[in-house]
Amino acid sequence: PPSLQKISQSVESRSADEKYADVNWDELGFGVIPTEFMYIMKCSNGGEFSQGHLTPYRNIELSPSAGVLNYGQGLFEGLKAYRTEDDRFLLFRPEENALRMQMGAERMLMPSPSTQQFLDAVKQTVLANKRWIPPLGKGTLYVRPLLIGSGPVLGVAPAAEYTFLVFAAPVGIYHKGPAGLNLYVEDQLHRATPGGTGGVKSITNYSPAYLAQQQARAKGFSDVLFLDSVTGKYIEELTACNIFILKGNVLATPAVHGTILPGITRKSIIAIALDFGYQVEERVIPVEDLLEADEAFCTGTAVVVTPIGAATYQGKRVEYNTGKGTLFHKLRETLTGIQTGRLEDKKGWTM
Ligand code: COI
Repeated sequence: PPSLQKISQSVESRSADEKYADVNWDELGFGVIPTEFMYIMKCSNGGEFSQGHLTPYRNIELSPSAGVLNYGQGLFEGLKAYRTEDDRFLLFRPEENALRMQMGAERMLMPSPSTQQFLDAVKQTVLANKRWIPPLGKGTLYVRPLLIGSGPVLGVAPAAEYTFLVFAAPVGIYHKGPAGLNLYVEDQLHRATPGGTGGVKSITNYSPAYLAQQQARAKGFSDVLFLDSVTGKYIEELTACNIFILKGNVLATPAVHGTILPGITRKSIIAIALDFGYQVEERVIPVEDLLEADEAFCTGTAVVVTPIGAATYQGKRVEYNTGKGTLFHKLRETLTGIQTGRLEDKKGWTM
């Protein structure tokens, strides 16, 4: 590894004279804008993760027979670093990401970094790349921890070596385009099955959704909402986020029972809505309830809280209120207020 002293000298000298990296902050979307450093840590032969280190952001070398390439043994996480008005940097509930990775690692038979190791790695990556944390109001620094089976395998079996990596990229809005997603309710292809891995952040949960997403986009929709794979009657989640529906004073979201990703934004929105006095239900949600809802929105680290403008199921299209006074708006303001230090963090969610 490059000498840690050299890296920290480089980080310090840059941060002393350049507050921001050379990025067009007004054009941020959700793409890869490489930053300068990433964090890497390894674990071999059933041992523990060793001491990790920062290293310049670069391609990594993997054996063609690495477990992750052949059998998809891998997990990822997503969290953001926020710049406050007074130039502090905040992370939002990062220990929840550490715990979710540990839970996923059990399911995928992988060793996982301890919560402390995870938090250290995230903090080091953020601080080393602090010039890429966008100005307040322009975006955030998306942090992507990855845990992969990097050791070689040929027979179908867990790898003997694992790599934990953290990289980061400045991001803006995930879904660009008109306010309010135009959702297609997918009734043929599925995202998750009971007993499968839909409830953990396995890398294998995402590319199987591409086909449905592409087909929907070709018809002018912005994203896909998947239904449960057993009965096809209940709504589950979008390609990369959870869903909520509002009817009267009752906010509902699909219960987490193995096929739904337990989103950290989802959990936070439930807590905020309860504080606002709404009744919150985590339950199975028939697709008819979506069609009869007053309001619908999705939540996730990447999408934050994004309103749904319309949903189409088997040719029936319904539209939702996305204007002023909607609940999603109030929830998003409160959540992002806490995340960026604008509102008091009474729950101790930020670090
Ligand atoms: C996130 O919201 O952080 C996610 O993991 C979604 C990602 C697939 C963009």
